[in-house]
Amino acid sequence: MRAFVTRDLPAAALDRIRAVAETDVWPEPGPPPAAALRERVRDADGLLCLLTDAVDEELLACAPRLRVVSQMAVGIDNIDVAACARRGIVVGNTPGVLTETTADLAFALLMAAARRLGEAERDLRAGRWGAWSPLLYAGADIHHATLGIVGMGRIGFEMARRARGFDMRILYTSPRPCPDAERDLSARRVTLDETLRESDFVSLHCPLTPATRGLISARELAAMKPTAVLVNAARGAVVDQRALYEALRDGRIAAAGLDVYESEPLPMDDPLLTLENVVLAPHIGSASVATRTRMAMIAANNLVAGLQCRPLPHAVAPRSP
Ligand code: GLV
Repeated sequence: MRAFVTRDLPAAALDRIRAVAETDVWPEPGPPPAAALRERVRDADGLLCLLTDAVDEELLACAPRLRVVSQMAVGIDNIDVAACARRGIVVGNTPGVLTETTADLAFALLMAAARRLGEAERDLRAGRWGAWSPLLYAGADIHHATLGIVGMGRIGFEMARRARGFDMRILYTSPRPCPDAERDLSARRVTLDETLRESDFVSLHCPLTPATRGLISARELAAMKPTAVLVNAARGAVVDQRALYEALRDGRIAAAGLDVYESEPLPMDDPLLTLENVVLAPHIGSASVATRTRMAMIAANNLVAGLQCRPLPHAVAPRSP
């Protein structure tokens, strides 16, 4: 059996795969270009990929032997899961292990954007730190503010739990109610409009699907308070990035903390980079050593299970239409 792994992984994860399959690992630090990926999957029975690799009809057409696609991430919007299902290819992901690490990062972005940490640090490093003065870098309070969660899944719940430690009030909007959040965190389920209108902080935790693509666009940003902060550690395309830039530039919302973008890496000519009131992280939500190591092991175990025609420990079901 042969496996193709699109990036170097922690040794224990590669050893796990090598124990059952001849393993080809992409040797470069960046993702394989589409043509190289097509070439490498030609004789592969299993593919271990990252969210930077497009697994679409075109790729699958080049991979006649493929029986498992194992993604080292929880989000699987780069994979055409329905096309995989049509070809009898099972898909796995790495839910659960990254929940708290990602919520930690989302909360860090919330705090940094609220308290203008990026701007203040840039000024300090550039020698622009003037004398202490009453409103210098004065931002927004986090404690006792209202947090609106868009998508109360595992990560949304952990974000809300962190917020309760800051005495925040929690509103949420989600396709399904979350009784645990209502009981344990006094969270209240409301419409998207009410979440946007009432919240001091709006944090996005939904997957990217056809229904959530562009969910936060000019109209939704206009519904937010001018003092509000938007946090996105989900997927960039949930937000209309141009509309967000304009809202931040014109002071229609106060600030944003972003870990994800419509196009990644964020192009260096993106206008967001010209703004002071946005904190920008390079898609590092799950990036703790422990979590990334666990994700790699889960992805390896999913791959091996698929290669051995066993049920995957973490399988992704195709979305119902
Ligand atoms: C990271 O963005 C993930 O989906 O795991």
